[in-house]
Amino acid sequence: MGTPITGRTEGLYLKIDIRTILSDEYFEQERTRIFRRAWLPIGHNYDLRRPGDFMVRELPGLGVNLLIVRGKDGKLRAFHNICRHRGNPLVAEKCGRQNAFACGFHGWVYDTAGALQHVTDDENFHFDQSGLGLIPVQCEEWSTFVFVNLAPTPHVSLREWLGDELADGYGDYFEKFAPTQPYRTEVNCNWNLAVNSFTENYHTLYLHRHTMPDYQGGAENPLRHLPAMELMRRHARYSTPANPYHRQRPAEAIAYRYSTPVIPTFITNPAGLPPNVNYNRVENWAFDVVELFPNFVFLTGRGWFVEMWFWPLSADQTIFEGALCLEPARTLANRVGQEMPNTLAREVICEDMSLLESQHSSLRTGALAHFYLNQEEILLAHHYRVSREMIAEQG
Ligand code: FES
Ligand SMILES: [Fe+2]
Repeated sequence: MGTPITGRTEGLYLKIDIRTILSDEYFEQERTRIFRRAWLPIGHNYDLRRPGDFMVRELPGLGVNLLIVRGKDGKLRAFHNICRHRGNPLVAEKCGRQNAFACGFHGWVYDTAGALQHVTDDENFHFDQSGLGLIPVQCEEWSTFVFVNLAPTPHVSLREWLGDELADGYGDYFEKFAPTQPYRTEVNCNWNLAVNSFTENYHTLYLHRHTMPDYQGGAENPLRHLPAMELMRRHARYSTPANPYHRQRPAEAIAYRYSTPVIPTFITNPAGLPPNVNYNRVENWAFDVVELFPNFVFLTGRGWFVEMWFWPLSADQTIFEGALCLEPARTLANRVGQEMPNTLAREVICEDMSLLESQHSSLRTGALAHFYLNQEEILLAHHYRVSREMIAEQG
């Protein structure tokens, strides 16, 4: 069974020059031409619903510390978290709710729209204080996600960035979940390799053969060929095949008596799913994988989703942040049942992370010049193509 691929299928290189991609020069281009111009999701607005709600978010590797705050007018704004007087970080707390923000150094105060409200002993300052509000950063909301763009004037709107395929079609899907056990770890590998490991299904047959031996494919599709793949302007997605003959292990059977099946059991019935989840309405569906270029990958299943960020620190180091997101438990049994997918997800991610470090140091020997990709790994070819395009783009 071949994989039906739609979208930008022309002009892909299936031979990837990996030495260039791991070089410091290329990394610098990625940082300035991609990460400083892309719309980047940085978290959720779950706790940013009311005026004065705020969060502080450092973007690893980008040297940016942001204050995100909901104004009295209901608009969510982002600012550099730095006082306009002498550069003290304005807010030390990670999140909370405040009507105004007072700097801990000399007491300058800013309102929730970033305007400078109060200067201690202001008659002693002989300059115009009206323009000394917090320095803004472009910020938009999409569904529950908060996006920022570090360019003073983004080259495209967030809607254009997402594209018609993704911008609509999730409905209130993301509203229903909350992260359980968020992970954050520093991995000694290049960020591209890390993204690549989560945007192909080919490795699951081997790398995860002990943790999740029979969760996908089955007798009719033993090589787990993907039932749908789509390469968009920048982003990409695919659906994965459930195994209709999967045999539940005893722990799994007990857990899923009390909580929603996540992995390796799946609810394959698409009834009630929004159009963008199982977007091609394939049969024997397990979950979708979406790469939101450049560094965010999410998995959408029925009753769960997984989110993963890959923040580049250098050409050799990446911060991984991720979480399995579930519907809040309604009973104690429900909560205990959720430990099954939580534990399994952690095991599987550990397998991926430990392999990534070995793969990276192996590639660092320089012995290998190229990657050769197969059809099932086509999202990797697309990822590197979009990188090339963004690096070359004007503006
Ligand atoms: S640095 Fe903030 S008031 Fe002086
Ligand atoms: Fe994996």
